[in-house]
Amino acid sequence: MEQWTCILTSIPKPGIGVIQLNRPQVLNALSLQTMIEIVEAMEQFERSADIRCIVIHGNEKAFAAGADIKEMSGAGSMEMLERDQFARWERIRAIKKPIIGAISGFALGGGCELAMNCDMLIASETAQFGQPEINIGVMPGAGGTQRLTRAIGKVRAMEIALTGRMISAREAWRAGLINKVVPVESYVQEAIALASEIAGKAPLAVKLIKESVLKSFSTTLEGGLELERKNFYLLFASEDQKEGMNAFIEKRKPMWKNK
Ligand code: HXC
Repeated sequence: MEQWTCILTSIPKPGIGVIQLNRPQVLNALSLQTMIEIVEAMEQFERSADIRCIVIHGNEKAFAAGADIKEMSGAGSMEMLERDQFARWERIRAIKKPIIGAISGFALGGGCELAMNCDMLIASETAQFGQPEINIGVMPGAGGTQRLTRAIGKVRAMEIALTGRMISAREAWRAGLINKVVPVESYVQEAIALASEIAGKAPLAVKLIKESVLKSFSTTLEGGLELERKNFYLLFASEDQKEGMNAFIEKRKPMWKNK
């Protein structure tokens, strides 16, 4: 589809845009170029009217073992500031279509943070999550201390970030970090199946639900309820609201128009 060097993209089923991290020799370490390509691929899928949901995955051994350590090791503060790599991560936050992460093997450091930037996560039984930056003298920088804490609570996030220990897929599931643990043979298919289910829903409602849920992380309950209510009213301006409710009354399947 594109001239990517660090990722692969595909559309395995109508409506589903898939991004695969493709640097297996370094466990999909997130080099600057890899992040550029991930963000560009996501934005292309975002712009495409045919795509309803995005799936991102690595390979069996690694989703991503973190930012590329070799690329960072010699840099100074000002150089890191100049690279402004987190501006790219902010663009992932702006994607309005649902993003499903399919995780197998290592999801560490920036890899764990990239997973936590997804809206839902399907993991293989071999997945391992962690924030091991402490072991190399730094700390999470792409939201690890914030998103992990919100997802699994203070004490568990502290333990993971301060010890650098990894947690298994089962532990991650019990802690509420991921949606489902499945056999390694099927983690990508399961994520695509979940994406397909969502791709069959009313697209405008999907978009506004994602926006409303994410808002809960950055606002008060009152502010979030206000946005939710406005989004709820807004959907009554859509043809799909009429179609969905009429289809229910007429006992038939709705035909969504994304209008
Ligand atoms: C660059 C990496 C890498 C990384 C692995 N490799 N992780 N290269 N950056 N983050 C490379 C290794 O150097 C090695 O290359 C090859 O991948 C295979 O890795 P091994 O270590 O030989 O594999 P294994 O023994 O199975 O150990 C797996 C591992 C270990 C436990 C995941 O690789 C590891 O600890 N990696 C670093 C994890 C980490 O600290 N991540 C946080 C990075 S900081 P060669 O050439 O030797 O074969 C970060 C900050 C985020 O993410 C900030 C926001 C973006």
